Amino acid sequence: MLHENPPAQYPLNHPIPLPKAPMKDDDPFVDRQGILAGSVRLTIGRVGQEIDVSGAIDSSRVYIPGVTVVIAPDAGIASDIAATRIVEVLRESGSRGLGTATGGTMGPIWQRVHAQIASDAALDLQSLFTVGLDEYVGLSPSSPQSYHQEMRSRLQPLQRFGFRSEQIHLPDTWDDKTGRPKSPQQLREECFRYEALVHSLPLRLQLLGLGHDGHIGFSMPWSDLHQRTHISDLSPKTRAANARFFSDDLDAVPKQAVTMGMGTLSAMAHRGTELLLIATGAQKADAVRDALFGMISPGCPASYLRLLPNVTFVLDQKAAGDLLGGVLEAPNPLISQPLRDMTS
Ligand code: GLP
Repeated sequence: MLHENPPAQYPLNHPIPLPKAPMKDDDPFVDRQGILAGSVRLTIGRVGQEIDVSGAIDSSRVYIPGVTVVIAPDAGIASDIAATRIVEVLRESGSRGLGTATGGTMGPIWQRVHAQIASDAALDLQSLFTVGLDEYVGLSPSSPQSYHQEMRSRLQPLQRFGFRSEQIHLPDTWDDKTGRPKSPQQLREECFRYEALVHSLPLRLQLLGLGHDGHIGFSMPWSDLHQRTHISDLSPKTRAANARFFSDDLDAVPKQAVTMGMGTLSAMAHRGTELLLIATGAQKADAVRDALFGMISPGCPASYLRLLPNVTFVLDQKAAGDLLGGVLEAPNPLISQPLRDMTS
């Protein structure tokens, strides 16, 4: 059942409601999108130290229509940058929707979010809702390894601002009535329900992690890049990478998940949702390189993000790998002089 097709009642032209995100004319996204068209912007260090390297890209070899790449000196600062953006979103009064991601990368980010807002007496999160990328099939929502449980625990400190666990949305893959995983038919119905839900809730920001093999959420390499929320057969590499959350017992790692597809993220991005991908650590360097400079291909789902507006990658130096090595040390076809001036 590899790469299951969307359910029959869910053709590509299904009229899923796509309400316009309530954004103002002076919204920073709009500016950012305009500035970035046709360029890649590399930022090194903290937010604010920006060098525009438009035109330094050999477009015959790489194609990056508009990605902001922020390279932080270390994972802590990368987490700070992501946390700062999340806090901005939480503080925007008109912004109620936040798309969440799971995985180890997100832990330090949420710790920093909680630290940054700790003394913010005015923050009111009663109307916030969060929408997660994915959930395993085969785990009950109370299982410690389920993404329901991960998000409840990551967001628990928001309760003092009026946020309740009922405001957390994730694919429901468990049948409470039978106490068993949902059947294939129920899961297909859940995909349809979740896709519609995602598009009925205007999200300001969608967080993304990055799988070692370039997957996003649980959209696996070689799955259809136009797919909406679907049932995903997890690749052996993904299951092996995630075994660390299951006491290294590979057999305990579920074989399937329900996940937003790249088509879901594309629809979001085109209506104004900012996509913020965070990758830290040397083990992500290959996936980062493939995502930013490889072929845009289903073989690396993250590469597809280069075709979308409103996309930012926040990397630490280790995840940036060759990209940063090239930037700082070698004569490099990608980078022009000003960046070296800044770092000398
Ligand atoms: C899982 C999640 C992804 C996440 C990835 C990387 O596969 N479904 O959403 O991006 O793990 O997680 P980590 O941050 O632990 O490397």
